[in-house]
Amino acid sequence: MRKKLIIGNWKLNGGLAENKQRFNATISAVHDFTDIDIGLCVPYPYLFQAQQCLSGTSIKWGAQNVSQFVQGAYTSCVSAEMVAEFGATYALLGHSERRFYTDESSHKAVLRIKRAADAGVTPVYCIGETLEEHQAGHAKDVIDRQLLPLFELDVAAFARAKAVGLVIAYEPVWAIGADIAASPQQAQTMHAYIRDLMAACDADFAAKTRIIYGGSLTPDNAKAIFDMPDIDGGLVGRASLNSQQFSQICAAVVPSPH
Ligand code: PGA
Repeated sequence: MRKKLIIGNWKLNGGLAENKQRFNATISAVHDFTDIDIGLCVPYPYLFQAQQCLSGTSIKWGAQNVSQFVQGAYTSCVSAEMVAEFGATYALLGHSERRFYTDESSHKAVLRIKRAADAGVTPVYCIGETLEEHQAGHAKDVIDRQLLPLFELDVAAFARAKAVGLVIAYEPVWAIGADIAASPQQAQTMHAYIRDLMAACDADFAAKTRIIYGGSLTPDNAKAIFDMPDIDGGLVGRASLNSQQFSQICAAVVPSPH
């Protein structure tokens, strides 16, 4: 059984005082959900605060990217080792907003996955098609192009990525920050496709890897999406800024008692 996972992506939001309230409210709101994994990915400057506020709670924290470089003359870059020093469990990689605003390619994201895994940080590799690609019927081709570079990692790096429990986040770009999410069936079709693609390269990896859905998750639509067999949780943007909504989304993924 793959343990369910909900990750909040705070994006470019927050401030020291606001975060403190939000961390505390989220800690209390998700307190009872002990059977799932929960993470919050915060802007880099707040990793230290996340470490201070969340240590000893059931919530892990993470970064929203890491550099493909380890050290050196790379102004503004932040390495995976650095975020690991602040106790980060997760790093989002290849998020569509990074692909859009900084032309982050899948090739670069895969290098970053390697760096994260080397530092013991769990990479959350975000993939998904844009509206144009979706409407043109190219969603699966896009997934092929984004996912297959992962299998070009050398054997040792791939083994490390597996060992740290690499996560795939399927986020149709057209559903991010939008009014509606993908339908449960649409999301399931893509998740199953992703799992099959992975299985063709490594069956064990495909069976164990968590594939989470992201894009306009709300307390109202989360349960129907999470009930799908290949959907192992969610990557939550806007609703993660509201502790009540975030905890309702966590509640929607908690497996029923039998
Ligand atoms: P959203 O963002 O939940 O606000 O649509 C999701 C994401 O970008 O990860």
